[in-house]
Amino acid sequence: MQVIHTIQALRGHLKGKTSIGFVPTMGFLHQGHASLIRQARQDHETVVLSIFVNPTQFGPTEDFSSYPRNLEADLAVASEAGADVIFAPEVKEMYPQGFATSVEPAGAALPLEGEKRPGHFSGVTTVVLKLLNIVGAQSAYFGEKDFQQVAVVRQMVRDLNHPTRIVACPTLREASGLAMSSRNSYFTPGQKAQADVIYRALMASRAAHQQGERTAGGILEAGRVVLQSQEALKLEYFTLVDAATLQQIEQQVEVLGDSEYRLLVAARLFKVRLIDNMGLV
Ligand code: PAJ
Repeated sequence: MQVIHTIQALRGHLKGKTSIGFVPTMGFLHQGHASLIRQARQDHETVVLSIFVNPTQFGPTEDFSSYPRNLEADLAVASEAGADVIFAPEVKEMYPQGFATSVEPAGAALPLEGEKRPGHFSGVTTVVLKLLNIVGAQSAYFGEKDFQQVAVVRQMVRDLNHPTRIVACPTLREASGLAMSSRNSYFTPGQKAQADVIYRALMASRAAHQQGERTAGGILEAGRVVLQSQEALKLEYFTLVDAATLQQIEQQVEVLGDSEYRLLVAARLFKVRLIDNMGLV
């Protein structure tokens, strides 16, 4: 496994390679990230992983400077999962002096995270497009954990005619059901033990649907009861959306098919911001 820090060296290293799978990350790798690397490993001859805490996707009051970083531990996880090349650029390599162009996604980028984190998806799509252009992979792997991010990246790739195929992979969870996340490291063990409330709420809504509840409002109510049982939780949104457009399904609307809907939740628990999501089946 090779660790490369500059765009020029990475391009040189990848020149002539025709089967590249690419996994973009911000590091502090866990088994969720490893599952993306493993999928890329199955599909392609060369697996490239980027580790870059992208400043442009963090708001001014967000956790860019305190975001957890540990390159040495990341290299062990990446190597174990089968990555061939690690691309770990400095901020000035990606955003040199004079940098002045960015992607402005609308559509799927506007609601939910787009409302709560202004500018976030512009930062995400800008860095993802730069990385896709630098790596020139056949496929790029993203986690469903960040469901809206996948929709926004798909929309960008389609709208801007990028040739890389976007592959979405399922969410990996702790035994408790808590979705794995680099930000879970902000919790004390006692706090983390209570963080399964989000998973339990999603499961309660899904169970309500499976037991015959058909209105969006009724399905959401079952989960909201669970969320409200946790006093330390500050809910930002809990909603049912169209999985492709991210448009909210109104309370009274009956949910007919199954797979085209998604429950999405964002909340702060002990000051840690968590997002999660689940299908109805
Ligand atoms: P990061 O949060 O490091 O996540 C990198 C990738 O891992 C994303 O596609 C994310 O959805 C996926 N991932 C995270 N937790 C997961 C889990 N529990 N199960 C499965 N996949 C999981 O997302 C970003 O970085 C950045 O926004 C990035 C796309 C790299 C652009 O900077």
